[in-house]
Amino acid sequence: MSTWYITAMKESDIDTVLEIENSSFDSPWGLKSYQDELTCRDSYCYTVNLGNRKIIAFICFRLFIDEMHLMKLAVTPALRGLGVALWTLEKCIYLSREAGATIAYLEVRPSNNAGIELYKKLGFQIAGIRPGYFSDNMEDALIMVKKFKEE
Ligand SMILES: CC(C)(COP(=O)(O)OP(=O)(O)OC[C@H]1O[C@@H](n2cnc3c(N)ncnc32)[C@H](O)[C@@H]1OP(=O)(O)O)[C@@H](O)C(=O)NCCC(=O)NCCS
Repeated sequence: MSTWYITAMKESDIDTVLEIENSSFDSPWGLKSYQDELTCRDSYCYTVNLGNRKIIAFICFRLFIDEMHLMKLAVTPALRGLGVALWTLEKCIYLSREAGATIAYLEVRPSNNAGIELYKKLGFQIAGIRPGYFSDNMEDALIMVKKFKEE
C-alpha cells in the first residue's frame, strides 16, 4: 500500500502548491492560474499527500470529451525518485478512463529528461513538435500521446 494518497486540490492548498511549483518550473504559474484552474469546468486538480496531510506533489489535467490533457505535474524536490509521479499519473489516467477518455496528450520540453522518461515509462509516445511553444525561451515542445487500450 502507498504511504501517500490523492485528494482534490482546494483553494487553501494553493500556497503549498505554489511552493512546489516555484521549485519545479523555470516559468512557474502564479496564484491566479491555479485559482482559474480550480474554477474551470473541464479541469481536475489533485494534491498528493502524506498521511499527515503534508502536500508532496500535485497534478492538473483537463478532460475534453474523450481526451485527457495533462497540464501540470510536479513532485516536491526532496521526494523525487520514489515513484510518486508514476503513481499519481497512473491514478489520473485511471480516473480519466473512468470518465470516458480514450487518449491522453501532453507537451513537454525536450530538455526535461525526467519528464520525458516518466511519460515513456507510462506508454506515452512522441507524436510531434510544437515549435516555440514555451514563450519564456521559445523552446519547442514535444507532443506526447498515449492511446488507452481497450481492456
Ligand atoms: C518529472 C517529475 C514529475 C518526476 O517525479 P518523480 O516522482 O521523481 O518520478 P518517479 O519517481 O515517479 O519516476 C518514475 C519514472 O520516471 C523516470 N524518471 C523520473 N525522474 C527521472 C530523472 N531524474 N531522470 C531520468 N528519468 C527519470 C524514470 O523512468 C522513473 O522510473 P525508475 O525510477 O524506475 O527509473 C519530477 O522530477 C518533477 O516534479 N520535475 C519538475 C516538474 C516537471 O518537470 N514536471 C513535468 C512537466 S512536463
